[in-house]
Amino acid sequence: MVSRVIPVDPFDLVVFGATGDLARRKILPSLFHRFQVGQMPDTAQIIGSARSEMSAQAFRTLVRDAIVEFVSADDYEAETLDGFLERLDYVAVDATGDAGWNDLAGKMRADMVRAFYLSVGPSLFAPIAERLSRHAIATPDSRIVVEKPFGHDLATAQKLNAALRGSFQEHQIYRIDHYLGKETVQNLMALRFANSLFEPLWNSTHIDHVQITVAETIGVDGRGEYYDHSGAMRDMVQNHLMQLLCLTAMEPPSKFTPNAVRDEKVKVIEALEPVPQSDIARGQYRAGGGQGSYREHAGNPASRTESFIAMKVKVANWRWAGVPFYLRTGKRLRARESEIAVVFRDPPHMIFPNAEGLRGNALVIRLQPDEGITLRTTIKDPGPGGLRLTEVSLDMSFAEALGADSRAQDAYERLIMDVIRGDQTLFMRGDEVEAAWAWVDPVIQAWEDARTEPFAYDPGSSGPEEALMMMHRDGRRWRQIGV
Ligand code: BG6
Repeated sequence: MVSRVIPVDPFDLVVFGATGDLARRKILPSLFHRFQVGQMPDTAQIIGSARSEMSAQAFRTLVRDAIVEFVSADDYEAETLDGFLERLDYVAVDATGDAGWNDLAGKMRADMVRAFYLSVGPSLFAPIAERLSRHAIATPDSRIVVEKPFGHDLATAQKLNAALRGSFQEHQIYRIDHYLGKETVQNLMALRFANSLFEPLWNSTHIDHVQITVAETIGVDGRGEYYDHSGAMRDMVQNHLMQLLCLTAMEPPSKFTPNAVRDEKVKVIEALEPVPQSDIARGQYRAGGGQGSYREHAGNPASRTESFIAMKVKVANWRWAGVPFYLRTGKRLRARESEIAVVFRDPPHMIFPNAEGLRGNALVIRLQPDEGITLRTTIKDPGPGGLRLTEVSLDMSFAEALGADSRAQDAYERLIMDVIRGDQTLFMRGDEVEAAWAWVDPVIQAWEDARTEPFAYDPGSSGPEEALMMMHRDGRRWRQIGV
């Protein structure tokens, strides 16, 4: 099934930090893909911007190299790439000075959607936003896009929000969490709110617990300095896992509009209970498999930063009372696997003998790899000789079921086009980010005050033993990673 492409309106998009890693890896290749499928009008203009002086031609060469490096050669033709490169221009600006801003202003065209993508460190958000406004480059309809990390804690997030709101209004600010652009994450909303099958069961009467896992095989080598000041809680839980939790737990919005959806997500975050340290297992990977330890990668031999975290979270509201949400994420684990597993309660009365060991119904929403949905069911073991039970999964891979394009769309493709369309549904609102930090801050503070060390775990494992023990204490089991 080929997905329908609806062209967006003509636009001027300025990418600040256009020569940086994120722009080269994600933003520019994503724009290229959207150009290639015909979603980008011929009049679209993409202006790269960074501090260094460079001709437009040199920038095009840099982008060509990035596309050759990060896009598979099977996925495009040379003429298409040439056509895309013609859409590009370049202006050097000094983010904290005056140079270049008038040149940039001169490139902007009337009657076009204007978007500014700040692929730069958070310390440059405010200076760039202020200059866009002062030089009248930003109009009341322009959009500004910012990347995570959106703050290091509540206080810094509030400062960033205040700085952006000094020059832009909330309806113009697009805070990216790329997990919201993943196909299955959006499918979670479709599954819940476009089917009548699940909603009657989606509560504490029928659900025993929920497990959200984002397991990665990569380590932190190459970005150890950033990561060591962040850790899994700030890098992954405050944003990506929080978003997955919100979409799983939220009430049905009355309509699919940006604020209706985000209002419901904020309510979930505000309903989160404080988490005691006994419900948290933090881990740090050892050396192994020919690679260094976390501490070597971080360049900090005494680091107490976690590269793994597992925690039990409670949503204190009518729907979820008594249903734990177990969150788990880590680096250098056995497999790259992300999923949300909704585990249902056992039948209230079991009439069949030998039912021990069966795990009951679970609805598993797989984010990666192989996006899809699995429903674990209990059926009769085939054959004569009495009625014995066994487990079988109804398994739907989206690629197989829908014959989806062989190239999976990157989350950034969807999100950047949403910016141009002016749709904020899949972006975090300022109060949402602050609410998430308000919940995360005391949890981090507690382990920092206690100066607790993370538990060591082997690379290629499922994390530290303590995470398993946390589940065992509750009489439950984690789903296995990489099996
Ligand atoms: C980023 C984190 O936001 O998400 C990284 O900073 C992490 O540490 C990455 O590796 C995971 O994203 P994905 O899309 O590969 O699951």
